[in-house]
Amino acid sequence: MKIISATHALVLSLAARQSLSAVTRGISDTVYSRLIEMATISQAAYANLCKIPTTITTVQKIYNAQTDINGWVLRDDSRKEIITVFRGTGSDVNLQLDTNYTLASFQTNPKCAGCSVHGGYYLGWVSVKDQVESLVQTQASKYPDYALTVTGHSLGASIAAITAAQLSATYNGVKLYTFGEPRTGNQAFASYINKQFQSTDPNTTQYFRVTHANDGIPNLPPTAQGYAHSGVEFWSVDPYSAYNTYICTGTQDQCCEAQGGQGVNAAHFTYFGMSSGACTW
Ligand SMILES: *[C@@H]1O[C@H](CO)[C@@H](O)[C@H](O)[C@H]1NC(C)=O
Ligand SMILES: *[C@@H]1O[C@H](CO)[C@@H](O)[C@H](O)[C@H]1NC(C)=O
Repeated sequence: MKIISATHALVLSLAARQSLSAVTRGISDTVYSRLIEMATISQAAYANLCKIPTTITTVQKIYNAQTDINGWVLRDDSRKEIITVFRGTGSDVNLQLDTNYTLASFQTNPKCAGCSVHGGYYLGWVSVKDQVESLVQTQASKYPDYALTVTGHSLGASIAAITAAQLSATYNGVKLYTFGEPRTGNQAFASYINKQFQSTDPNTTQYFRVTHANDGIPNLPPTAQGYAHSGVEFWSVDPYSAYNTYICTGTQDQCCEAQGGQGVNAAHFTYFGMSSGACTW
């Protein structure tokens, strides 16, 4: 009797795990072109927004000298969208943020109970918080029917995730697109952001965590240091296409992370054929 119930429990736990994790191949052209657009803006942020779509106007730059966090608030009137983008690592000062894995309590957002985020990126976020919130607030009140979108690559991806988590406590319908995002916070943060962005289902998610091939940055900081991923992973493999983009849901490291990449590698710099700051698109 004991043996039967133990076996039964094992079968149930395997079934539960399978239903939590799934990988499917191919995304719609609509979602794919959206990922390309956001990747373009994120990669252009390394080079003063070179060649971003012409429908987009620059509202204002975001900058803090101490942390060297760079970003912009943009507006796309054709899409009715206010976009906040953050640049990835561009200096030694940024590298110091990248390598500070000490988890910091997410104090700026008390609605996120028990949440901690990457300590270096938290310092980065706090250094630009007032600028971001005041710019977004001004735009959102001037254009109340516009969507709010946040995006970025690498360090910019994690700052985008923290920003989006914060804005989601105030605004409805925030969208988040990240590229080559490191793990940004603890499990409580991951659960909070999954709830805020409806990320348990790829059909409802407003958080698109895009990864590429064996990009090693999504494997950092290690889970052993208390970090977890969130969002729905959109894993792009080469040759990149809508069909070669996989949707990966679930709690286990799979898709990009399972490729075993560690740290900065070739796959980290290039998304959909666009390299950070190269402006060749
Ligand atoms: C690392 O991050 C923590 C949390 O944000 C902060 O208290 C600490 O000062 C940072 N360390 C360095 C060396 O900047
Ligand atoms: C998502 O939508 C697609 C197409 O409508 C459907 O085939 C799929 O079953 C849906 N997935 C989930 C998890 O509901």
